[in-house]
Amino acid sequence: MKLFLDTAEIDEIRTVARWGVLDGVTTNPTLFSKIKGKTYDEVLQEICTITSGPVSAEVVADELDGMLREGRHFAKLADNIVVKVPMSETGLEAISRFRAEGIKTNCTLIFTANQGLLAAKAGASLLSPFVGRLDDINEEGMTVIRELVEIVTIHDIETEVLTASVRHPRHVTEAALAGSHVATLPFKVFQQMVRHPLTDKGIVQFKKDWEAARAAMAANAKG
Ligand code: G3P
Repeated sequence: MKLFLDTAEIDEIRTVARWGVLDGVTTNPTLFSKIKGKTYDEVLQEICTITSGPVSAEVVADELDGMLREGRHFAKLADNIVVKVPMSETGLEAISRFRAEGIKTNCTLIFTANQGLLAAKAGASLLSPFVGRLDDINEEGMTVIRELVEIVTIHDIETEVLTASVRHPRHVTEAALAGSHVATLPFKVFQQMVRHPLTDKGIVQFKKDWEAARAAMAANAKG
C-alpha cells in the first residue's frame, strides 16, 4: 500500500521523505489554510520538488467552468499534480472532462461505494473515501474501503482506492488488510506508526548493556 502524507506543511513532507516512506501528498483547502505567507501555487510547487509521487491539489469552484479552469491551472504547475475534485454531479462531469484531456484526478469526499463506483467510471485515477468522518457519525468507514476495493478488483477497473480521513494507526493497518491501494495520513499518524513503548524501552536497555560491556572491557584491559 502506498503511503501519502495529508498535509501542506513543507517540514512534515521533508521529514517523511527523508524516512524513505513517502509515496505522495494530498492537500485540501483546510490543510492549506494552516499555511501562512505562501500562495497555494507556491506550496504545491515546493511539494512537487520534494516528491515525484502524486500531489493532490483541490479545486474549490462549484460550477464546471471554474473547476476546469482551476484544475487545468494546477495541472500546469508540475507533472505530478493530480486534480482533486469533490464528488457531485458537476464533479463527475469535470473528472470525465479532465480524463479526456489526460489530467489525472482524485475524487474526494466519497462516503459510499456507489459514489466511488461513479467516480471510477467517470475516470478518476484515485478514489478517496473518508473513513474517519464516517466513524465520527457512528458508521463503519472501513466497510466502504472493503466494498470499493472489491468492486474495482472484481470488475478490473483501472483506478486506485485511497483511504482518507485517517485518524489513527489502526486505520492504516485495516486499510492495508482491506487491499486499499493508498492511504493518506496526517504527520502525527506517521509518527504514531513508528513508535512502540517496547521499542523505546529496548533501545534504552541495549544502550545501557552496551555501556556496561564497554566499561567491563576497559577495566579488564587495565588489568
Ligand atoms: O484527505 C482528507 C482528509 O484531510 C480529511 O481528514 O480528518 O479532516 O476528516 P479529516
